[in-house]
Amino acid sequence: MVMGKLEIHDDKVSDQTLNQLFREARTHTAWLPKPVPVELLREAYDLARMGPTSANGSPARFVFLKTPEAKNRLLPALAPLNVDKTKSAPVTAIIAWDTEFYEVLPKLFPHADMRSFFVGNPALIEETAFRSGSLQGAYFILAARAVGLDCGPMSGFDAAKVNAEFFPDGKWKVNFLCNLGYGDKSKLFPRNPRLDFEEACRVL
Ligand SMILES: Cc1cc2nc3c(=O)[nH]c(=O)nc-3n(C[C@H](O)[C@H](O)[C@H](O)COP(=O)(O)O)c2cc1C
Repeated sequence: MVMGKLEIHDDKVSDQTLNQLFREARTHTAWLPKPVPVELLREAYDLARMGPTSANGSPARFVFLKTPEAKNRLLPALAPLNVDKTKSAPVTAIIAWDTEFYEVLPKLFPHADMRSFFVGNPALIEETAFRSGSLQGAYFILAARAVGLDCGPMSGFDAAKVNAEFFPDGKWKVNFLCNLGYGDKSKLFPRNPRLDFEEACRVL
C-alpha cells in the first residue's frame, strides 16, 4: 500500500502460504525415502538467517547430519523414543549456539562496539545467545517449511553427550535437534488443540 510517499507493507501472504507454514504444517516422526539435497538446506538457512536476533548477533550454528555414519554418532545421546524417527529421517540438524558469537559482532553490527558488552560476561553471553539462537531455530523450522520440507524438532536427548561427541572444544553447544525431510502424512496423529487468544494473550 502507498500512502503519499510512504510505502507501507501491510499485505498478507496468501492463504496457501499460511497453510504451508502454519495451519497444515505438522511435526513429523515418520519419513518418506526421499533425499534432501544440501542445496535445499542452504536455501532454508539463507532464509532463516534473515530473521532478527539481538544486535544481529546470529548466535545459532547448524550441523546437518546426512550420512548414516554421522547419524550413528548422535544415536547414543537420544531418548529411546527419538531413535527410530531420527534414523529414518533424511537429515537431522543439530541446532547449536556459539559461546563466542560476540567475536563476529564487529562484522554483523559494525556501527557500534557491542563485542565489549559481552566479553567476560558469561551469563549475558548465554542468555543472549540462547534466546536469539532459539529464535533462529524457530526461523529455520519455518524456512524449511517454506522450501517444502517437513520438520521434527526434538529436545529428548542428553545435551552433555551431544556436546561431547560433536563439540568437544566447548565453543558450540547444542540447543535442540530437528529431523528434516518429507514426512509420511499417513503416520500422523490427529492435530492437538492450541490455546485460544483469550487463554494465552493479554492486551493491556
Ligand atoms: C523444542 C521442541 C522439542 C520437542 N521434543 C520432541 C521430542 O523429543 N520427541 C518428539 O517426538 N517430539 C518432540 N517435539 C514435537 C512436539 O511434541 C510437537 O511439535 C507438538 O506436539 C506439536 O505437534 P504438531 O506440530 O504436529 O501440531 C518437540 C517440539 C519442539 C518444538
